Formats: sequence, C-alpha cells, structure tokens
Amino acid sequence: MSQSNPIKLPNMSHYWMPFTANRQFKAMPRLFKAAKGNYFTSIDDRQILDGTAGLWCVPAGHGRSEIASAVGNQLLTLDFAPPFQASHPLAFEAAERVAAYMPAGLDRIFFTNSGSESVDTALKIVLAYHRVCGNPLRNKLIGRERGYHGVNFGGIAVGGIAGNRKAFGNSLAGVDHIRHPLDIAKNAFTKGVPADGGVALANEFEQRILTLHDPSTIAALIVEPMQGSAGVVVPPAGYLKRLREICTQYGILLIFDEVITGFGRLGTKFGADYFDVIPDIITCAKGLTNGVVPMGAVAVKREIYDAFMEKSPAGAIELPHGYTYSAIPIACAAAIATLDIFAAEKLEDRAASLSTYFEQAAHSLKGLPMVKDIRNIGLVAGIEFESIAGKPSAMAFATYLKCFEMGIHVRFTGEIIAISPPLTIEKHEIDRIFNTIADAIKSVNAAGEAGLIVNNHLKNEQAWAMHQSF
Ligand SMILES: Cc1ncc(COP(=O)(O)O)c(C=O)c1O
Repeated sequence: MSQSNPIKLPNMSHYWMPFTANRQFKAMPRLFKAAKGNYFTSIDDRQILDGTAGLWCVPAGHGRSEIASAVGNQLLTLDFAPPFQASHPLAFEAAERVAAYMPAGLDRIFFTNSGSESVDTALKIVLAYHRVCGNPLRNKLIGRERGYHGVNFGGIAVGGIAGNRKAFGNSLAGVDHIRHPLDIAKNAFTKGVPADGGVALANEFEQRILTLHDPSTIAALIVEPMQGSAGVVVPPAGYLKRLREICTQYGILLIFDEVITGFGRLGTKFGADYFDVIPDIITCAKGLTNGVVPMGAVAVKREIYDAFMEKSPAGAIELPHGYTYSAIPIACAAAIATLDIFAAEKLEDRAASLSTYFEQAAHSLKGLPMVKDIRNIGLVAGIEFESIAGKPSAMAFATYLKCFEMGIHVRFTGEIIAISPPLTIEKHEIDRIFNTIADAIKSVNAAGEAGLIVNNHLKNEQAWAMHQSF
C-alpha cells in the first residue's frame, strides 16, 4: 500500500471506544481487518504479530475453522432459545464440558456473557448463599488493591484500581481490600513466583478481618491468582495457600477470578491448578470461547449449588439472576469447540513447555534503559518502566506504539507493557516479540524527549498513508 493509494477509513465519529483515549486514537487509528493464527492483518495490509492473544482471550490462535463451523452451524440450527424457564440441550452439554475442565468439585456452572458479569454473578451468589444458609449478616466482600474484576458495579467495588473507580460515585457498601503482593524493592526481576514473604502477607488478611471487621461478617474474598490487568503481579510462594487456609478457618468463601489465568495461560488449566489451591468459586470468560463469542462462566462448588437447591422453598427460583444471553446457543457451540481444541492440542501443556523459553526471552530485556522490573509466569510477562515525572504512562505508551509500527501488538497499562501471546506461539515468534520490544525501548530512549511524543510514531510508509487519508 502506498501513499498514492490511501486506505479508506470508516467514519470514526460515532463509535465511543471502550478504555481508549478516543480523541488520540481517532487522530491516529490502529485498525485490524483480519486475523489468522498468531497474526493480525492491519487495515494497511501489514502482518502484526499478536503478542496479546487479542485481549488475553484467543489462546488457540485466530481464525479457528473448527469454532467458526460450530458457531455457523449452530446459528442456522437454533439461533436462540429463551434461557429463563426454558433452555436447549447444548447449554447442558457446555456446562458439563466446562465442569469437566474445572478443578475437581467446582462442577456447577452458571453462564454469563463476560468476565465482568461473571464477577458480579459470583458476588451475588456468595451473598445469596450465606442468606440461604441462614447467615444474612455475613455480607461483606473483600477484594485486593490492584485487583481488576471488570467494570460492573460489583467488580469495581472489589477491584483495586483507583482510576477505574473514582469517576463512578460511592460504590458498594461493605467492601474492604487487602494489600497487593507486588514488592519491586524486594523482588525486582524475579523469574516466576517470588520465593519469600507469601505467608506473612496473607496473614495480614487475617489481621485485617480480625481488627476491622469480624470474620463472621465476611462473605467472600475475591482475588486473581495472578493480577493481570494491573501489571502482571505474581503472588509469592505460599500466599494463595495461606489465603485459602484463612478463608476455610473463618467460613469465608474464596473466589478466584480466572478471567485471564483460566484456559492455559499459566501452563495449567487454571491458576488454581498452577498454585494447587482450590477456591470455592472460579470466574472465567475470554478463552472459554477463544474470544469469538462473548461468554463467561461461574463455576461453584457443588455444596454451594446444593445449598440453594435444598434450602430454597419448593418451586421457588433459587437464584433470581441471569441474562438474556446466558448460554446462548452460539456461545455454547463456541465453548465446546474451544474445549475440543484444548483437549486435542493440549494447549496448557504447550504453554508450560514454552514457559522457560518465554521467561528467558522476557528477562533478556533486563538492563535496557528505563526498565525497572520484569515479571513473568506461564506465557505472561510484564515489563515495568521507571515513571517519568509529569508524564504518566509515557514510556509504556511510546513503546507500545513503536512495537505496533514494527509489527508487534503488545499491551500497555500504566507504566507496564504486558505480553500474553496465543498459546500457539512459536519460539521464533517469542524471539521476535522480545527483540522488537527491546528495539522499541532503545529507539524510544534514543530519541529522548521526542521519543515520548506520540505523534512521532507510526510513521512508516503504510501507517502514515493510513494516517494521511484520515
Ligand atoms: C481478572 C479479570 N476479571 C474480569 C475481567 C472483565 O472481563 P470482561 O472485559 O470480559 O468483562 C477481566 C478483563 O480483563 C479480568 O482480567
């Protein structure tokens, strides 16, 4: 594509983009028009290696024909069935398949349409559970600093990212937070799980609930096994196990939000498997359908489901909750096809076998200018930059743009670049991702102040042609 043949861009006025600096983006759009395997095709016909599995949600790689056929066939067979007081066989089959993929015991499945909905559903389930069990005063929810649990009101209440909370009023009452486990001063450049401090940190949770609340008032603790969105925070050894012990001791339900860590990301089916800690509830979404149809799921321990069934009045709706699109047939078809791919290709094992190579590649960036920390686990890595006074996120954003110009899609969040490729990634592609990030960091730094000016990026011939046509 050359400047004489500029790309036709859509009218960009009407779409209010989520979690995006709309004015900045629309002045310099980054648009994809196709995807196959581990690559996107950008609107200016460049192959962009997908270093983020979409948005952590395409573990099996793009354009899987098995999923496309299953969804297409389903659409022409049964497009919709009412989910309240009626259903369709595939919903039950999908639930059975998801249950079989979950850690043992978490085999009752509620379907939603997203990670955010899964989280809010889980929070409602725990409150309703304690009520149905005769403990309505056990109604406080505990989240964690830096936690990301989606964008609905429950999720931002237990979430721990100020930027996602401050604009939206007073949030839910009866919510508290525990400390996040990131300790760069002690653990910078740790490969994988930090060795020390996990039990002491988890014990702070016990201290906090004893001092500030009373354990008998706490309904649940929700944590991501690895905090993804707030910058790839890997918990220290022993931390999650100790949280589990404390929850068990005080009758508090433990929810693992596995929207990112589910479906092979850590080299195991779930983070629960990786850390060998079984929560009472797992929330998931994203990889469940390989990202192609919105779907989330909440897996609960059988005892929780049974309590609703045994203790609710006969004939009553046990949980007055659900969505028009809960278990919509095409989502069920996509989930089953995705689980078939996982079973056939053992993608979790693939991720595990690549994780050391990936770790070495990620940590090869140590020593580059501005790189303050590198963290990794499974097929996830985070590179954190020194922050620049008065210019929050500038280094990460400039690096992200430079990578895009050089044909790699990474994710930036705060001062961090996150990498989470499809689990189908090849070693030479891992090399390319990290070599490109290294080149991007060097290039941004070499340009000094100018390197941090957003408009100085994306000026290769193709991207610039696209830009000019706007
Ligand atoms: C841990 C976690 N929970 C919840 C969500 C929200 O998922 P969704 O964007 O599908 O609502 C995300 C999204 O990244 C997530 O990482």
